[in-house]
Amino acid sequence: MTTEFQRPNIFAMTGYTPGEQSADPATIKLNTNENPYPPSPQVFDALQQFDAAHLRRYPNPTASDFRLAAAKLHGVAPEQIIATRGGDELLRLILTTFVDPGDSVAVAEPSYSLYPVLTAIQGGQLFDLGLTSDWRLAPDFVDRANKARCKVAFIVNPHAPSGALMDEASLRTIAEAFNGLILIDEAYVDFVSNAGHDLTQFAVKADNVVLLRTLSKGYGLAGLRFGYGIGHARLIEPMLTKTRDSYNLDAISQSLAVAAIQDQGYIEETRRQVIEARLELQVALGALGFEVAPSHANFVLATVPRSGPSALSIYQALKSKQILVRYFDQDRLRDKLRITVGTPEEQHQLIKALREILQRD
Ligand SMILES: Cc1ncc(COP(=O)(O)O)c(C=O)c1O
Repeated sequence: MTTEFQRPNIFAMTGYTPGEQSADPATIKLNTNENPYPPSPQVFDALQQFDAAHLRRYPNPTASDFRLAAAKLHGVAPEQIIATRGGDELLRLILTTFVDPGDSVAVAEPSYSLYPVLTAIQGGQLFDLGLTSDWRLAPDFVDRANKARCKVAFIVNPHAPSGALMDEASLRTIAEAFNGLILIDEAYVDFVSNAGHDLTQFAVKADNVVLLRTLSKGYGLAGLRFGYGIGHARLIEPMLTKTRDSYNLDAISQSLAVAAIQDQGYIEETRRQVIEARLELQVALGALGFEVAPSHANFVLATVPRSGPSALSIYQALKSKQILVRYFDQDRLRDKLRITVGTPEEQHQLIKALREILQRD
């Protein structure tokens, strides 16, 4: 098909580049922030018990059982929840529901590289409001976003790729002053160390906030493609009843997602292990001369030692040893590597390889 059939914005845009995947099980994958642990045993049971005869019928269109379970977990109403095909589908729904072609969308780069891609698909204008040197939103973020008449702001919290966390009070102030809708992307919230960090009650009471949650990270289910949004019913309703694909979540995913979200004991245990391993990773990288930003996510952003090889060459050297980490050829990130927290054994291999690359004993 020739390019002339494409909408001009689609022709002009660049697609999303996912992190590398490797078919070789020997590869140590610390590049796409997957959970180092498998999903809950309840998910394995639910998969085994799933009766394929049910696939004859269409699935529940709004994932009612999942929304009920999630509502119970968060102490909100099912009308305040929408289940989506990964958090990514929620991002798309926010744009198709609330942003007209030509409208501005606020982001603070660097952040999740899918935001610009989805904004371009919708024909929106990306408005980059920048971050401070310690990865916080610039103090005049809201003023500038309002002046640019941004309809939506994407705020990732904990921030990716740094792992920095903004507290509820700061986000409340932003939400109250911003004239548009704020999508707070909480993809990594399951790894926040601060006990009690919970934005759900604030989100459902505000009239311009939607939280993004995903089962891809904390629940170890990136392959399932299941996420959800939490917000005021007036914001959730148009996405649930109008812009969502008619059957956006298949019957198998719905059944496994319910099993996963109901086993909070397991999630708590893997979360504890990831947080512990994150600390070990920070200390080990620090001892090798990396500067590591404090992180509330299941990854760390490490600035490579000034005196040694570049981040790109360390990334390449690790890759040649079958260890994948993430290098971003992007402003503010070219001297850094984003490294996903792994199992103790994976991290041991990583540190051993880095010692060799940096010629440290
Ligand atoms: C910041 C951020 N938001 C959202 C997502 C979406 O995750 P998923 O579509 O797997 O739920 C990701 C995935 O890497 C992410 O890093």
